[in-house]
Amino acid sequence: MTDGDGGRHPDIDVNTPSVARMYDYALGGKDNYASDRAAYEELEKAAPSTRPLAINNRRFLQRVVRILAEDYGVRQFLDHGSGLPTQDNVHQITQRIDPSCRVVYIDNDPIVLAHGRALLQENENTAVLQADFRDTDAIFDHPDVQRLIDLDEPVGALFVSVLHCIPDDSDPWGLVRRVTDRLPSGSFLVINQLVSEDAEVRRRITDFLVEGTGGRWGRLRQRHEVERYFEGLEILEPGLIEISDWRPDSDLGPKQKTDEWIEFGGVARKR
Ligand SMILES: C[S@@+](CC[C@H](N)C(=O)[O-])C[C@H]1O[C@@H](n2cnc3c(N)ncnc32)[C@H](O)[C@@H]1O
Repeated sequence: MTDGDGGRHPDIDVNTPSVARMYDYALGGKDNYASDRAAYEELEKAAPSTRPLAINNRRFLQRVVRILAEDYGVRQFLDHGSGLPTQDNVHQITQRIDPSCRVVYIDNDPIVLAHGRALLQENENTAVLQADFRDTDAIFDHPDVQRLIDLDEPVGALFVSVLHCIPDDSDPWGLVRRVTDRLPSGSFLVINQLVSEDAEVRRRITDFLVEGTGGRWGRLRQRHEVERYFEGLEILEPGLIEISDWRPDSDLGPKQKTDEWIEFGGVARKR
């Protein structure tokens, strides 16, 4: 999509940067506007490691999904805050392993729905919902979720690089608990978010992103706050870590090793 065709989607505000479109730009995608690119360039000045961070995050998501499908037999996924379709999305990875895998993508950015629908037109095992993923009841009651997700079988629930978008007053810890409660035993939760142990970095980047996205952001947190998402769950090896170290399958590609800010988290199973 280019700046010129924004008129086709009246819900899309091309003037306010969106997290989904900035992330798309960081990954080298084309579904972004001048406002997103300008905000991203400013962010990179404040945090020069942003692009490798985004690339490592996407690789983590792709790795985890493949491992859950291949090694743990997971055949259905709920992707909270899926972002814009890019190369190797969850349904493509899983359906290469087993074409009967089902995936529901959830995102509240209208551009995700517009592009997701076009991509999925002919894939009956996949749906994209434009919804606020904080609204657990509406998501689990949605006809597409009821059609595609069998709550008698393990589910892979993804919260990959999204919970920093949720402010504390929306209780992201309660959200993870609510979703976990709805899932059957043997389901998996994949959770990571942006953290820094440096208070000044947390303040600077959080202020920048809250202001830049018109308040549609939460905050950078600390590792111990991410560990709280996993309370009561069985954490898979190698534990909660900087995500490029989570079962790496290649030495190639960027590794984001600075202390500036990192994506921190892991994978857990509901007992
Ligand atoms: C950084 S992107 C991550 C995309 C994808 N999970 C990944 O890791 O590649 C964050 C996404 O979360 C979405 N998002 C943020 N808050 C949301 C909310 N409350 N409900 C639904 N989607 C949300 C944004 O629109 C954006 O697409």
